[in-house]
Amino acid sequence: MDADYVVRPMLVGDAETVERLTDEVFFDLETRQHRTGWPAPAHRSPQDAADWAAKAAHDVRHDPRGCFVAEDGVGPLGAVISKRRDTTWLLSTLAVRRGVQGRGVGRQLLDAALAYGAGCLRGMIGSSEDPLAVRRYRLAGFTLHPQMLLWGAVPRAALPVVERVREGSAGDIALLDSVDRQVRDSAHGVDHELLLRTHRLVVVDRPTGSGYAYVRLGGAPYLLAATNRRTATTLLWETLAATDPDVPVSIDHVTSANEWAIDVGMACRMELWTRGYLALRGMRPPSPYLHSGHFL
Ligand SMILES: CC(C)(COP(=O)(O)OP(=O)(O)OC[C@H]1O[C@@H](n2cnc3c(N)ncnc32)[C@H](O)[C@@H]1OP(=O)(O)O)[C@@H](O)C(=O)NCCC(=O)NCCS
Repeated sequence: MDADYVVRPMLVGDAETVERLTDEVFFDLETRQHRTGWPAPAHRSPQDAADWAAKAAHDVRHDPRGCFVAEDGVGPLGAVISKRRDTTWLLSTLAVRRGVQGRGVGRQLLDAALAYGAGCLRGMIGSSEDPLAVRRYRLAGFTLHPQMLLWGAVPRAALPVVERVREGSAGDIALLDSVDRQVRDSAHGVDHELLLRTHRLVVVDRPTGSGYAYVRLGGAPYLLAATNRRTATTLLWETLAATDPDVPVSIDHVTSANEWAIDVGMACRMELWTRGYLALRGMRPPSPYLHSGHFL
């Protein structure tokens, strides 16, 4: 593509425009890749759109040199959002408008974000199944780890009695950061400020194991980390206990290093599917760990 566009730093004021752009791009991708048996692709609800824009604004505030927009005279063509936590570089969003995909815009955006991660020992990307995305990440030196997801309603009868899980609060951030450093070598740090405002936090803190989970509205894990599988399993059950038994939910981002989560899903008779990749550089798939798409 001729360079009739520019790549510039994203501003907080771009968050809503980038939200709209990514919603269109991912709706289009999901429509093209839709599989029989899956829920129909949907645009983000107004609440989800507002939450997404708030996360993007948070990233621009904390990592202004990791977030970029590509635009021409008409408007935005694409965007990338990346951050650094400790010595890990994390990419949460890369999207280019359908009509201009495959012409090098994504590569320029990714290169700009990767430059922000120069010097970081590790890298994490939650990748879609778009062959264009996967090609970009592999060519950038990332190892592609296929992911699974579990899908289904959680019958009450399947739920075990869960003990010693307590509600968490801002006072637990040092514990959460310490668990993350043990499990994935980097803390979430400032991300907890936003996560605590938007999600319920549950915590286990025992001599035999520690961990935490942010619970999605409607139940199921948004982000889960623990120092051992037993603690992780307890936390996963706690997040599933918050679901409505008549409403299917998903346990997302399960790599083969996290079979403990598959076992919980099997106990609930949930369906197992494959979906996307965890693309990593300088590290192995974290375990026991279920990452968040945005905060990884
Ligand atoms: C992934 C995405 C951001 C890449 O942006 P882009 O501008 O399309 O990417 P580029 O043009 O820079 O690179 C695409 C590469 O795939 C190649 N490609 C094009 N069509 C292809 C196909 N059908 N299969 C495999 N590779 C293909 C291109 O030749 C190019 O490789 P090259 O630079 O080595 O020639 C964009 O396609 C997109 O928004 N996809 C949907 C959203 C998504 O999946 N985002 C990633 C989620 S993390």
